[in-house]
Formats: sequence, structure tokens, C-alpha cells
Amino acid sequence: MEIFHISAECYPVAKVGGLADVVGALPKYQQLAGHDLRVVIPCYDIKFNAENKFECVHWGDVKLGKYVFPFSVLKETTNKLGYELYLIEIKELFDRTNIYGYEDDIERFLSFQIAVLDWIMARNKIPDIVNCHDHHTGLIPFLMQFAYDYDVLKNVKTVLTIHNGLYQGWFGYDKLHYLPEFDLIHVGFLDWNKSINSLAVGIKCANAVTTVSPSYLNEINKAANGLESLFNSVRYKSRGILNGIDIEIWDSSKDKMIIENYSIENFEIGKRINKEKLCEQFDLDASKPLFSFIGRLFEEKGGDLLPQASALSLSENFESINILILGSGNSEIESQLQQLTNDYKGNYNVFIGYNEELAHLIYAGSDFILMPSRVEPCGLNQMYALKYGTVPIVRRTGGLRDTIIDFGDNGNGICHDQASVGDICYSISRALKLYEDKMSFNQIIKRGMIANHSWEKVCEEYIEIYNLIIQQNEI
Ligand code: GLC
Repeated sequence: MEIFHISAECYPVAKVGGLADVVGALPKYQQLAGHDLRVVIPCYDIKFNAENKFECVHWGDVKLGKYVFPFSVLKETTNKLGYELYLIEIKELFDRTNIYGYEDDIERFLSFQIAVLDWIMARNKIPDIVNCHDHHTGLIPFLMQFAYDYDVLKNVKTVLTIHNGLYQGWFGYDKLHYLPEFDLIHVGFLDWNKSINSLAVGIKCANAVTTVSPSYLNEINKAANGLESLFNSVRYKSRGILNGIDIEIWDSSKDKMIIENYSIENFEIGKRINKEKLCEQFDLDASKPLFSFIGRLFEEKGGDLLPQASALSLSENFESINILILGSGNSEIESQLQQLTNDYKGNYNVFIGYNEELAHLIYAGSDFILMPSRVEPCGLNQMYALKYGTVPIVRRTGGLRDTIIDFGDNGNGICHDQASVGDICYSISRALKLYEDKMSFNQIIKRGMIANHSWEKVCEEYIEIYNLIIQQNEI
């Protein structure tokens, strides 16, 4: 089957968060399973694009009302990613160093979606499945069904995969005329609470909706920033599929980004060498347990709880633990975290920014990984941590609930229920006791390292859904 994945991010090309990891891996494994995969993302002004070769396979103009934006479709020529990668180059809108966060994001991603469809039309070959990811591509299922220009694509089946329902890409009706022409009788599909809500449009119009974990699907049926009733009404075509992790990239026995490779047989020594290097680099004490956080510093991820939780556990347990934080996001949280470096020198450090290589070393060299998320549609970090023998400390929510079981219940991590400073500190104190009981600690590490979260299995579930919707069966 010919499958298109359309997304704003794809690792290793353009990454802000886990969306990129999934869009970089799922197609690779679907291709290995015998399908024809194409991944399409915008062409940003970023390193990968400057360092790789592309050929132009199509060009045209996107019209947004009275604005006209020339675009080209660039195909990566070596196919080294394991699927065909296409970049939509719209210089005026995407030739920028950041992926999101511009005032004209609506115009940018609307143009992207229109350019993708114009090109798919021009290929004279109709795909079997178009799998959209998050709100940036949420209008595609609508446009394929109802826009006159794309009539030929009307019966192509679409899937919307939701990685994060918090961001919905809504805009006012003053921009309705940006959309390619369609019969206004269908305008209701665009509406959610009197504005056009890209995510809601995708949920309504896609043939199937998937979320990145089963628990997240249950949760958004109860609370989803205003979309819960919509999620309830599409339950019949929704499924929660837990993400996998790409074990070609995340394998402690082969990872070139860490200092010492190790496996379940020699993790104690391997992790110690990585930890020593990491602690040296960040002026930490390698003889003490190391708790780390990797990710975006936003409330959604519990980032706002980190400064106080770190300060409290460092002062209570001063000199018995280290905390290391790698991330960026909310500037207030960033500066609070940075201030702590003065008070807890030698036991605490922070690296503000995004650094893939450092993230690998942190998984390898840490004892515990903190994930105090308020919302976590899936979460990949806990699965990377498990593979690297690092014990996850998580708040039970979304995919964290589906992957981490408390060690008190013979599980693989440490869990708490509230997104609060108190709960985090309590978990840290339990972690400290566990750390002292080396036998139990090692047993939990081993349990984590053998877990199989590879994509092969997960990718079959997606294919099953594609087949069901192609045969017009319920999913
Ligand atoms: C988003 C979610 C995260 C998920 C990732 C990949 O970043 O916040 O929970 O793991 O997408 O699906």
C-alpha cells in the first residue's frame, strides 16, 4: 500500500519533540513491512536540509486569498532514511530557523497543506492512505473530501494521529477565504465553538483517529480543552496505539553518542562510566544518585514544578543526590532553574536548550529520570530510559500510565498520582531508599531493559487500521 505521512516534524530532519521521533520511525518500519512510504514535511532553514541533497520534483503556486506563494517539492535523493522524504519549500513562509512560534503559523501550515495536496494531485497516482499528524495537518481530510480541486482524492482514506490535543490550530472565519473552494454546505465540518479549529476538523473528517496511547484516549474523552464531547462522538472510529521506540537509534549497546556501550549483562559498569563522564561535564558528584529531566519546560510536562521540587529535595537530601536538567521552553521556568545552580553547586546543574547527543548521554549516565507531566499523550523518554537502564519516576497519566508500573507492584519504575511538588519529592525519597537496596534496584533496572517497545509490533496495528478503513469496516 502507498502511505503518506504528513507532519510538521520528522527526526532527524526537523525536531522539537516526540512527534518528530514517531514520524521518523513509524514510516521506516512500515516500509520494512513491505509498504511504500512517503513522508512530507515543510522545508525549514535547518542543518539537515543544508547538508543533504534534494531534487525538485514539482513546483507550483499556493493561493491564500489574494496572496500567492510559489512552492517547490524537494525529494531527498539517497533514500537513506528508509522511506521517501519530501520537503515542501515555500520560501516566504518556511525559510526560517524555528519550526513553530510565528505570528503567521496559520498561514504557514495552511499553505503547507494546500501545497501537499496540489502535489499529490499532480502525481497522477492516488495513494491508499494519508496519515496526518496533529493540528498542522488537520485540514487535509476535510480538503480531500470537499474541496473541488481535490475531487479525485475524495475516496482516499485518511487517518489523523493525535500526539498532542492541547494545540488545536484554530482561526477565525475572516480567513475562511484562504481555503480552496468547496461547497459551503459542508462549512459545519470546519466549525468548533464559532471558529475554525484545525484539530477538530481533522477529528470530524478523518476516517480514523488514533491517539498515541490507550490511556490518553480515555483521558481526552473526559478532558480535552473543549474537545471532549467531540472525542466522545468519534469513539467508534478512534483507537489508542502506544508509540514504539526506534531501537536502531536507542540501543545502549551500539549508541555512538554515549561514552561506553553496555547491555543488560554489564549495565552496572557501563552506566557507571557514562555517569562519571556526565558528572564531570556538569560538575556533579558521581558517587551520589543522579536524577535527570529531559524535555520541554512547560506546565504540560510539569516543568513549572521542577524548580521547587529540585530545591526541596536538594535541601532535604543535600549531598545525597544530584539533579540535572536538560530542556528549554517557558523563560520563567528556565530562569528559576538557572538560579538554583548558585545554591546547589556540585549537586545540581541545568542545560537550557535542545541537544540530542547530550540527551543520549543523560539516559545512559543517570539513575532516575523524572517525568512529572500533567499531560502526556504517550511520552517516549520513559521508554528510552527503560532501555538505558534508568528508572523512570512518573506521574500516572496518558502513556506514562500505560508503560510504567510502580516497583511496589513488581513494576519497572516509581509512580505518583498528583502533579505536585509534594508527590515528586515523595517519589524522590522512595527512589533514594530503592537506590540503597542494590539488589532490588538492579532487578528493576533489568526488568526495564528487557521490555520490548519496538515499532515492529506497533506498526502492524496501524496497518490493521488502514486495512479496516480501506475495506470500510469499523475499526
Ligand atoms: C507529543 C506528546 C508526547 C508523545 C509525542 C509522540 O510530543 O506530548 O507525549 O510521546 O508527541 O507521539
